[in-house]
Amino acid sequence: MTTTTTLADVAATSLSAVRTLERHGLDYCCGGKQSFDEACAAKGLKPESVMQEIERTPRPGASERDWQTAPLDEIVKHIVATHHEYLKAELPALGSRMDKVLAVHGAKDQQTLSRLGDVFGSLRAEMEMHMHKEESMLFPFLEQYGRAETLGRPVPPVPFGSVANPIGTMEREHEGAGEALLEIRDLTGGFAYPSYACSTVRALFDGLKAMEADLHVHIHLENNILFPRAIALERG
Ligand SMILES: [Fe+2]
Ligand SMILES: [Fe+2]
Repeated sequence: MTTTTTLADVAATSLSAVRTLERHGLDYCCGGKQSFDEACAAKGLKPESVMQEIERTPRPGASERDWQTAPLDEIVKHIVATHHEYLKAELPALGSRMDKVLAVHGAKDQQTLSRLGDVFGSLRAEMEMHMHKEESMLFPFLEQYGRAETLGRPVPPVPFGSVANPIGTMEREHEGAGEALLEIRDLTGGFAYPSYACSTVRALFDGLKAMEADLHVHIHLENNILFPRAIALERG
């Protein structure tokens, strides 16, 4: 651990590290390029104690793959099967809960709820488009990269000049998603149920909280592991 270690570096070591950073509100995914020490200091935390906490968390069992060394095609398959499928199922479900909440409680907390509806609506539309771009354009090439690496062959050429080009676009879109998540957290007061919360409001807030956690791990796997490894493979 050196002073140049970033939150992303720490997160990339294991999913237990990811969970510990998440617990302390340390943004390893979109703010991942920040120095670990500085990010801890900004939260009033001692970097050494956070590191100790990460080390104390039980190491992953066989069920947790070490994505740092897994072939790229396996990482891609895992991201799609776990995180993309999750969002494809969850975004429409959250959307209908949001519509219901706006219809029933909209008048109680008009400004906050209508803004929440808008932020969620654009995040949903952007993520649906984003995942489509990943699955139809970028990921098929990264899977080929993975197979080439496993076979010890040079990576095939890509139609977009360098794989860094679409990756740059995806990373910018991740930043947009990260900002939307922050605003959702803020608007809901950290997902705390309002006084009028009925079961739909509770299900909406719980669902938004779960989506935040999942999307953080999802973006982390892409930004901190998949994309840097693909760029390194292309450089040879
Ligand atoms: Fe993705
Ligand atoms: Fe992505």
